[in-house]
Amino acid sequence: MAVQINPSILSADFARLAEEADAVSGADWLHVDVMDNHFVPNLTLGVPVVESLRRATDTPLDCHLMIDEPDRWAPAFVDAGAGSVTFHAEAAAAPVRLARELRAKGARAAMALKPATPVEPYEDLLPELDMLLVMTVEPGFGGQAFLDIMLPKIRRTRELIAKHGLELWLQVDGGVSAQTIERCAEAGADVFVAGSAVYGAEDPAAAVRALRAQATAASEGAAWAAGCH
Ligand code: DX5
Ligand code: ZN
Repeated sequence: MAVQINPSILSADFARLAEEADAVSGADWLHVDVMDNHFVPNLTLGVPVVESLRRATDTPLDCHLMIDEPDRWAPAFVDAGAGSVTFHAEAAAAPVRLARELRAKGARAAMALKPATPVEPYEDLLPELDMLLVMTVEPGFGGQAFLDIMLPKIRRTRELIAKHGLELWLQVDGGVSAQTIERCAEAGADVFVAGSAVYGAEDPAAAVRALRAQATAASEGAAWAAGCH
């Protein structure tokens, strides 16, 4: 699969979201961080903002739910127009049931792992998912430093995907930038969230193009992708 770049609107100007979405029209998805001030110590936006964004842009929405009780709240984000909904493994009571419900409603179902959550206990569950998100910072805030110690988990996840012959996308989120994206791609990630590296740039669309070029080159040279080209 070609690499995908998903700018995070957490680093955008929330008073000008439609324009900020336009500013990255070359992006594959817009990454929308939903925080409830319980699962993470920060509060952002919810269903009404997703509904409005859906009307304001043609770019599909990748909603990352950093919330408690995703079993209860996640399906409403599909109704609001999300094309992909990510819930956290640490918060979901019944992740298989939730993933099936999201897929049945027509969205891609994704699950996220905080830095201290290992992937191995979820090996048998991976076929139920369309994407796995390996967090490369503690969720809650943009602009944090990339955690290099997550690279082995990205590698092990890529090995599990290959072992089971899955179509699963492998997303990384947190501190992804020109300085770190190549390491993520080499380790096996193929979907890259970038907040401050895109919206902190003078030209966000150019930043998306540059990150895509770096990630593409790095994954083409990576051993894990040898059979994919
Ligand atoms: C953090 C969010 C990220 C955040 C990334 O909890 O999930 O999506 O926006 O921001 P950067 O790319 O600045 O680390
Ligand atoms: Zn996120």
